[in-house]
Amino acid sequence: MNKFWGSRFEGKSDELADAFSFSISYDHRLAEADCLAGIAHARMLGSSRVIAKEDAQRIVAGLNVLLKKIKEGKFDFDPHAEDIHTNIQTALKKEIGASADKLHAGRSRNDLIATDMKLYWLTARQEIQAHIEKLQRAIVKLAQEHIDTVIPAYTHLQAAQVVSLGHFLLAYVEMLERDKQRLDNAARLADVMPLGSAALSGTSLPVNRNAMAKELGFKHISANSIDAVSDRDFLLEGANALAIMAVHFSRMAEDLIIWASSEFNFIDIDWGLCTGSSIMPHKKNPDILELIRGKAAGLIANAQELLILMKGLPLTYNRDLQLDKPPFFASIDNTIVILQLLAKTFETLKVKSATLEKRIQDESFFTVDIMEYLIKKGVAYREAHDTVGRMVKDCLDKGKKISSLSREELKNYAEAFDIDVKKLLNPHTSVKIKKSFGGTSPSSVKYQLKKWSRELNA
Ligand code: ARG
Repeated sequence: MNKFWGSRFEGKSDELADAFSFSISYDHRLAEADCLAGIAHARMLGSSRVIAKEDAQRIVAGLNVLLKKIKEGKFDFDPHAEDIHTNIQTALKKEIGASADKLHAGRSRNDLIATDMKLYWLTARQEIQAHIEKLQRAIVKLAQEHIDTVIPAYTHLQAAQVVSLGHFLLAYVEMLERDKQRLDNAARLADVMPLGSAALSGTSLPVNRNAMAKELGFKHISANSIDAVSDRDFLLEGANALAIMAVHFSRMAEDLIIWASSEFNFIDIDWGLCTGSSIMPHKKNPDILELIRGKAAGLIANAQELLILMKGLPLTYNRDLQLDKPPFFASIDNTIVILQLLAKTFETLKVKSATLEKRIQDESFFTVDIMEYLIKKGVAYREAHDTVGRMVKDCLDKGKKISSLSREELKNYAEAFDIDVKKLLNPHTSVKIKKSFGGTSPSSVKYQLKKWSRELNA
């Protein structure tokens, strides 16, 4: 058994307690961060003359050897060394001998674990952002192909108005952009180095914290050692940013699942992302999208778990904090996989233009356009709404189409009507006239596409 804190301890450790408390099975992924923090710390100890330059050099060289092994997947994690810090420390001692014992001066696992987690998260969030951008590019590409494809859009899941499919898809790109910004914000607040706070009070050794921060790429150093070792806000913010993103994934998945149903039949999802039924031979089920929707539950729960973990903890470090890792890592892993699967989904998605073209002929999609026709002719909004409402009701009652009404019949509803109103009974026209900024007209969609191709290819 290999522990950081030997001499004061009497008696044997308890196997069950060890198995319950050891974190190496999940914190091994902090190995690189732990080495980097160690290298920065050792260099600083050397230049501050806390340890001899030669010892510092030996430690740095030894940690670099470990770092290389870790990167190549050749590092042997010892399940009997309780956590990542103990693992690295023990491996370092094997690698360089006695000098390794000098590394831990002026630091504690409390400031180290907080530093490791920040380093890990700040790197992971960049990876996540790169995947978000790949997904955005896949969606933008599909949107580009469907500027002029018209689809029904829904409120209350009741058919409402027609829009450009390109416009609809670009809504997802906006949502993802906010997700990216949320990660930027979270990273900005996380960019404060705890290392050098030691256990909780700082240290009497002359540590140069700014030098370590510079080497590790942190913008700031923590100004209060108590806060530094107690704080996990950066994980709460990270996990909540990922939970919100998962809600976005889930809503996208839900749209696509609905569109792929035989009742809607707007799209075809690639076979590779679907499964069949063990009993109903005709089925093609969108399982991957359903699982993406389902996984959002876990990501939301992880954010909740972290909030609940933190809420009763007295300052400063408590061992409970070790349990921040499993939910946080799970959120990161799931986010990355889902981003890749969604990108594949959009890259392979087939749009069923013929079905859509039939579906969008329904004249009830154009009632707002008819109402706005009247408003443009000076009719008050309320009156225009009533007029079109009466007209729709009559047509439904009598099984008639608005397009079949004569000039006289139209005039009976409102003097302002003329036969040219029938030009509005066309889905493509309906889309074309929504020229307001941010609206669904092709010119607006092209404008958005230009913006995205500039931003995503920069
Ligand atoms: N495994 C611990 C964690 O993840 C490392 C810090 C342990 N510190 C301590 N004082 N026991 O939080």
